[in-house]
Amino acid sequence: MFIRRAHFSDIPELLAIEDVSHEDPWGSSAFNGAMDSAFSHSRVWVTVAAGTSKILGYICFQHILDEIYVVNLTTSPDVRRRGVASRLLGLCLLWGKRQGARRAILDVREGNIPARRLYERFGFRQAGAGKGSLLLERTL
Ligand SMILES: CC(C)(COP(=O)(O)OP(=O)(O)OC[C@H]1O[C@@H](n2cnc3c(N)ncnc32)[C@H](O)[C@@H]1OP(=O)(O)O)[C@@H](O)C(=O)NCCC(=O)NCCS
Repeated sequence: MFIRRAHFSDIPELLAIEDVSHEDPWGSSAFNGAMDSAFSHSRVWVTVAAGTSKILGYICFQHILDEIYVVNLTTSPDVRRRGVASRLLGLCLLWGKRQGARRAILDVREGNIPARRLYERFGFRQAGAGKGSLLLERTL
């Protein structure tokens, strides 16, 4: 598998994964906005299966001042627990560090155990809490 920047033409495939993965899925305008080059701080990367064009997962994040804010990280249900999200998150954090970011933050639902385990493994710690969600952070 390899990681590349997402294209607008990927959006239908992203929506299909999004719809079966989240209670409150992003729509096409959210992906359009995240990919819009007018917002140079916002990026969407996808993991593609080697030898095919099938998208396995994606990460959407923002780089603002010295922070990376991960706003969406999703793996297609049929390929979970195979390291797709770990690769995306690992590359995002490494990229952020190289760009001079000092901290990564994200929100996760309190009951989302798979995501919380993943973020724990990457060294994220609780920095706050909202309505049913936790704010996690780690230094880069
Ligand atoms: C959370 C999510 C992105 C993980 O994607 P993934 O590609 O399966 O993650 P990885 O294979 O890289 O998993 C890395 C580690 O995370 C933890 N993890 C992942 N899924 C888990 C699960 N279902 N239960 C417990 N731990 C889990 C494990 O520590 C895992 O390592 P291991 O497989 O060696 O035990 C995926 O389950 C998903 O898309 N969920 C729906 C969308 C979502 O909730 N996104 C996060 C929003 S904050």
